Amino acid sequence: MRQSSLVVVANRLPLDDSAARDGACEWRRSPGGLSGALHAILQQTPATWVGWDGEVGLAPRLPDLGAVRLRPVALTAAEQAGYYEGFANSTLWPLYHDAVQQPVFQREWWETYRSVNQRFAEAAAEVAGKHAAVWVQDYHLQLVPQMLRELRPDLLIGFFMHVPFPPPELFMQLPRRVELIRGMLGADLVGFQREQAAHNLAQLAQKLLGAEASDDAIIVDGRTVRTGAFPVSIDVAEMRALATRPDVVKQVEQLRHDLGEAKRVLVSVDRLDYTKGIEHRLTAYRELLRDGHVKVRDTVLVQVAVPSRERVESYRELRDRIEGEVGRINGEYGRVGEPAIHYLNQPFTRAQLAALYQTADVMVVTPLRDGMNLVAKEFVAAREDGAGALVLSEFAGAAAELSQAFLVNPHDVDDLKQTLLRALEASPEDRAARMEAMRRHLAEHDILAWARAYLTELDHTGRLARRFIGRA
Ligand code: ADP
Ligand code: G6P
Repeated sequence: MRQSSLVVVANRLPLDDSAARDGACEWRRSPGGLSGALHAILQQTPATWVGWDGEVGLAPRLPDLGAVRLRPVALTAAEQAGYYEGFANSTLWPLYHDAVQQPVFQREWWETYRSVNQRFAEAAAEVAGKHAAVWVQDYHLQLVPQMLRELRPDLLIGFFMHVPFPPPELFMQLPRRVELIRGMLGADLVGFQREQAAHNLAQLAQKLLGAEASDDAIIVDGRTVRTGAFPVSIDVAEMRALATRPDVVKQVEQLRHDLGEAKRVLVSVDRLDYTKGIEHRLTAYRELLRDGHVKVRDTVLVQVAVPSRERVESYRELRDRIEGEVGRINGEYGRVGEPAIHYLNQPFTRAQLAALYQTADVMVVTPLRDGMNLVAKEFVAAREDGAGALVLSEFAGAAAELSQAFLVNPHDVDDLKQTLLRALEASPEDRAARMEAMRRHLAEHDILAWARAYLTELDHTGRLARRFIGRA
């Protein structure tokens, strides 16, 4: 097995089943912020990516993707249920997102979570060269840093949490809270999207471990673990290039034509997840139609909702509720050939997304809680024309950077309605000024800047960043 000096460890490999099975040497991104972000920086990097291919049973033999070697970790059906659907996505995911959905605690999930984390740690230890850097990602693998340190004390270990990290009041509910904190603190550097998260970890380390902790360093077992905020971003250059590609420009014209040239178009693009606030958004839109503030003949909503985690009951129930509500709204307000909402439940290519973003008069991104939300950033990057308005939830990490968006509290349906109207009715000058400020910010804070900032902090010397983030 070839050993690498940079190893990424994430629950998911950055490809979907069909790409894995037919052996196509092409990146097929699974929808989701994490793989999209890392995909952008790793294409030319001689690294190894340790992860699960999304299927149960024997791990397939996978081709390299560009310069990246893939090291699959196999999961059994019981592991998929206990580790991925159970502890990761029914306990940690809802709890970390403000418990907007009730977290489920099932004692037997813990042992599976622990043993799968051990397997990921062992796989990483096997492919990491001497003194390599290993970068562990997200809430699925929170125990890996400490396990890896025990196996390979020579490694430089980074951990990055893509999702929010909650305040002690919520985290303290977790039955295995001490182990989870200790697991993360096995890293040399723990990165978050927001500074508040680093503050939350410091408080928890003090409370649970009696550690000496500040918002940028925690001393545990005589070792200093650094912490900090590194807001993740997107491949801005890729999105800008896509936006101006002739076939994409044609798609935009076609879409505008199909939706109705004279219509104001609202667009939302989400994984079908209860954190994304889709139901609140539909309620607001229904009330705008009911009150006559928005009319089907002059306004239309396009809601893309790609299915996600469909074996978890709460996700299936959510899908049923959303589809019922879209049906009711269209039934009540739509006209022949003119639905109130176009609802699309399919995966889109990057080019199709770039076209859709450019079709929007108003992009509506209103999660109830989100670590970052890359869709908001993709929309801004795609708007080479400098037009379009962004309605953005205050509870998305992106709101800290894209403060010129029309910010909204999505829990407050009245605020949501008013903000949608404000964005729809804003003057072209107001929209353009906001968009320009956001585009300027993004140009300097793209995915390469994120990786460079993180890796520079990880090894202190800048050597890692120079070696792996070539396009400086
Ligand atoms: P999350 O990571 O919670 O899914 P983000 O907004 O950060 O949320 O990232 C979502 C990513 O998935 C974005 O890069 C977006 O372009 C992509 N995506 C969302 N919907 C689709 C879809 N229907 N088809 C393909 N990619 C999608
Ligand atoms: C979020 C998580 C990622 C995850 C993605 C898609 O972005 O932070 O770790 O990969 O959602 O979810 P899935 O369960 O399909 O991997």
